[in-house]
Amino acid sequence: MTSISQAVQSLDVRQLGINPNHWYVVARSKEVTNKPISVTLWQQAIALYRDSTGTVYALEDRCPHRQVKLSHGQVIANQLECAYHGWRFDSTGECVAVPYLAANQKLPSCKIRHYPVKEQHGFIWLFPGDVEMLHVKSPMGLPEWDHLNYIASVAVINCNAHYSYLIENLMDMYHGHLHQDLQAWAEASLQDIDEDANRVDAHYTALSFYKIDRIWSISQLFFPALRQLHPEPLDVSYIYPHWVSKLGNDFKIYCLLCPVNETQTKAYLIHFTSLNAFDKLHKLPIWFRRFVKDSLFDAAKKLLDGLVVQDVKMIEEEQQAYLQNPDRRNYELNRALVSVQRLMRSQIENLG
Ligand code: FES
Ligand SMILES: [Fe+2]
Repeated sequence: MTSISQAVQSLDVRQLGINPNHWYVVARSKEVTNKPISVTLWQQAIALYRDSTGTVYALEDRCPHRQVKLSHGQVIANQLECAYHGWRFDSTGECVAVPYLAANQKLPSCKIRHYPVKEQHGFIWLFPGDVEMLHVKSPMGLPEWDHLNYIASVAVINCNAHYSYLIENLMDMYHGHLHQDLQAWAEASLQDIDEDANRVDAHYTALSFYKIDRIWSISQLFFPALRQLHPEPLDVSYIYPHWVSKLGNDFKIYCLLCPVNETQTKAYLIHFTSLNAFDKLHKLPIWFRRFVKDSLFDAAKKLLDGLVVQDVKMIEEEQQAYLQNPDRRNYELNRALVSVQRLMRSQIENLG
């Protein structure tokens, strides 16, 4: 074992950094306009904005003149103008204008960092890593986002906890106990785990409350009396740094991560209900299918928001307990979490 891997193995998983050589999700598409916003990805403040063509850019959220936030400024002529003295920066982070520059003065050569961003499937994906790795990796993506056979619902997770607590919560299906009143799933049982350098796939069996095989069965999302427990495979995957799950053929959920710092994590939870079982629907005109998809958008949001509140409470309590007693050890029975921690560590170890 090398000294780097020894150091990582001994490092507490609750203090791990992130592997920056991946695409992270920093915002929803609709959050980014020509008015800059500030987001934080692993201690780095980033200003996001659109130019007049609608293209999204990401610059370090720091004016090199006096270190104030560039996101307080505005987009003028496709450049980001600082609110304080009006210095302007282009999309590569170069200072391109100072309003009071004297004839005998040169523009200061104070370039700030710009980040590669892609807008895909309703979200802004950002690559904070090594530019040489940029083309090796691509955003995970959510193909169901634009597919007419899937209805999407989105919830936002903001929790005061290290990202490892959120991932462990999502990979440990035995916590269905917490969500009993929301009827998400029941009686999970871990069958098998596959893992490699980039992912952990945990295969459970479970009971699902929902069966989407008739058009009216969407109403099960709103009326608990219509739900009937039945067995389904439940697969959950940690595809570093994000998470995906599939419950039978009817449901798919993604959790797209934006770790903010060691004790704060933002994430987007996207739930898809499949309409694949309705043969007749697929023969209808595209405009009608689009109408169905759009009108049912966020149909499961109430359920998702309820799950998030319950999960966040537990996750934040785990973080607090850790901060108060970092040496206290947990008693873990779910071997999927051992694999999850191994993957988190190896992602950092491989950076060395
Ligand atoms: S602080 Fe930004 S222009 Fe002066
Ligand atoms: Fe949960």
